[in-house]
Amino acid sequence: MKWSERAQEAIKTRRVSVFLRVLSVFFLLGAASHLGSILGIGGTPWVARPLLFRIADSVMLPLNLIMAWGLWRARLWAVITWLACILFLQVVPFLLFTDHFASSPMEERTLYGLLATHASLVSIFLLLLLSLRFKRARGNMITIRPEQPADIAAVRAINEAAFGEPTEAAIVDSLRDKCPDAVSLVAVEDDRILGHIFFSPVSISGGHEVTQGMGLAPMAVLPERQRQGIGSLLARAGIDALRQRGCPFIIVVGHPEYYPRFGFVPASEHNLSCQWDGVPDEAFMVLILDQDIMSGVSGVARYRDEFDQAM
Ligand SMILES: CC(C)(COP(=O)(O)OP(=O)(O)OC[C@H]1O[C@@H](n2cnc3c(N)ncnc32)[C@H](O)[C@@H]1OP(=O)(O)O)[C@@H](O)C(=O)NCCC(=O)NCCS
Repeated sequence: MKWSERAQEAIKTRRVSVFLRVLSVFFLLGAASHLGSILGIGGTPWVARPLLFRIADSVMLPLNLIMAWGLWRARLWAVITWLACILFLQVVPFLLFTDHFASSPMEERTLYGLLATHASLVSIFLLLLLSLRFKRARGNMITIRPEQPADIAAVRAINEAAFGEPTEAAIVDSLRDKCPDAVSLVAVEDDRILGHIFFSPVSISGGHEVTQGMGLAPMAVLPERQRQGIGSLLARAGIDALRQRGCPFIIVVGHPEYYPRFGFVPASEHNLSCQWDGVPDEAFMVLILDQDIMSGVSGVARYRDEFDQAM
């Protein structure tokens, strides 16, 4: 995984993204204060304010709004821009040109207060990231590897535990025997299987053409080990393996908040429809791996019959 993907993954963890949302509210308040200044709320008309203030208002109002949005969505570019802005637009200019920023001791104290707030926020952010790093370092290595015959019982148990019913485990059992093209991966820590992901062939029939790809289903992580990044490791490993095999697309029916982080988009954007009625548009998604093969392909994407038989 590239550093940027690892960093994006780290800032999406629950603790960090809650912090980023708090930060996002700060930026919204910042935008409101710049807007108030431009509108002359507080008495001083904007045109009468020092030039530096007017420049700061004009730059910081849109920047704060963009940042508030990026931080709310836990985007890496927002975090990097935030750190850079604080350093280069606030800390450095303020320390170098304090007199230009503050025309009275009161203003100087306010600006020092603002600086201290920003320094605390940066420290909290860095501490959060450091704590994640230590947590990872303490934890054992999780590896992703193809499923082996000795894993079958554990894979069944994980699917039953994660879904709370046997349907998905039964689909995996029946496809494993009948479908040599299926891809079945497990996440292992200290010889213990913690998660499983399964891909099986899917065909899109539109007109006279049939295009073969894969469907992601099911995917399961032991309930007590969910939300620790194991599902993401499995999904990325599976996608990489299928890309290397030359698979042109992967479809999935699942949580619309989860799969877009791997590049999935609503399948309707590519004129693909689901074989089952009642699946919400945003829950039926596709990841295009080969644009050339997929250009002009549309129609109904069908999983293997074992899915219908098990449901
Ligand atoms: C879905 C599942 C495989 C994800 O595995 P995971 O190891 O928990 O996922 P990761 O740790 O990589 O990602 C965690 C993120 O996934 C998302 N997520 C996890 N479960 C989710 C769910 N049920 N609904 C929506 N989003 C979910 C959250 O955004 C979470 O981030 P957060 O902890 O910051 O809130 C796992 O939760 C699971 O086994 N669920 C039960 C079975 C299931 O629903 N399988 C998928 C069928 S589509």
